[in-house]
Amino acid sequence: MESVKGKKVLLVGATGGIGRRTAALLRQSGADLFLTGRNADSLSVLASELGLPANQTAVVDLQDPTSLDQLSVSFFAVFPHIDVMVNASGIGIIKPLEQLEEEDFRRTLDINLTAPFRLMKKFLPVMKQAGKGLVIHIPGVLGKVPMAGAAAYSASKYGLVGMMQSLREECKRTQVRFTLIYLGGVDSPFWDGIDLRVQRDKMIVAEEAAKAIWFLCQQPASGVVSEMVLQPFNHQAI
Ligand SMILES: NC(=O)c1ccc[n+]([C@@H]2O[C@H](COP(=O)([O-])OP(=O)(O)OC[C@H]3O[C@@H](n4cnc5c(N)ncnc54)[C@H](OP(=O)(O)O)[C@@H]3O)[C@@H](O)[C@H]2O)c1
Repeated sequence: MESVKGKKVLLVGATGGIGRRTAALLRQSGADLFLTGRNADSLSVLASELGLPANQTAVVDLQDPTSLDQLSVSFFAVFPHIDVMVNASGIGIIKPLEQLEEEDFRRTLDINLTAPFRLMKKFLPVMKQAGKGLVIHIPGVLGKVPMAGAAAYSASKYGLVGMMQSLREECKRTQVRFTLIYLGGVDSPFWDGIDLRVQRDKMIVAEEAAKAIWFLCQQPASGVVSEMVLQPFNHQAI
């Protein structure tokens, strides 16, 4: 493993269940973190818990392109380059088609697919130019295997996988590496608004999901973990 000490890491969605634990692990390991979240209060609480100055955080609304433009300006005002980008943001709207409104579909694609596209537009060229970089996205297993009620969510996550696999091909002759992590159910606030009978006590603990991401951030430059699948023990097969 290669230490993340001193690495410039952008963590998008740091205020989420998985993101905040990932932030803590990376911080403990000495990474130079830049955190984003939508909720200004929880971002500022997290930053003070981790002892991060305000200029290493940015409130970002992933549906707003100008917010993402501002993010790259703020990031590069603090750090000269970027070593790792972890995208731990996203939403889940899980409903049967009859209840799924076009606005649900659009919003899911905006946040889970268009926003990662915009992030790539901002940060990938810089990584390519620097000849290094690691990009980690979390499509989750619903980006690999469909589930009833997940038409919008799976569309966004399959789309994310397709986009990232294509970008990986585009970057083949660069030193930029791409990792997709397919997590099964993780017990986090993600599920709070989802009207589905799920056994949260049987899900992956958010801390363990974060440890997997933290591990992935430490891939030595000579290799890459292209994909990782981490499932709750009772869903071992996909
Ligand atoms: N939990 C699971 O079972 C599971 C399984 C597989 C994959 N995943 C994926 O893992 C990632 C993290 O999930 P999680 O469980 O940590 O979810 P979470 O606790 O709901 O956190 C979601 C994160 O996304 C941010 N976010 C949502 N909408 C946003 C917007 N419009 N603008 C800016 N930020 C926005 C949230 O910001 P605020 O909190 O500040 O609003 C939060 O930081 C997501 O991509 C999810 O699809 C989750």
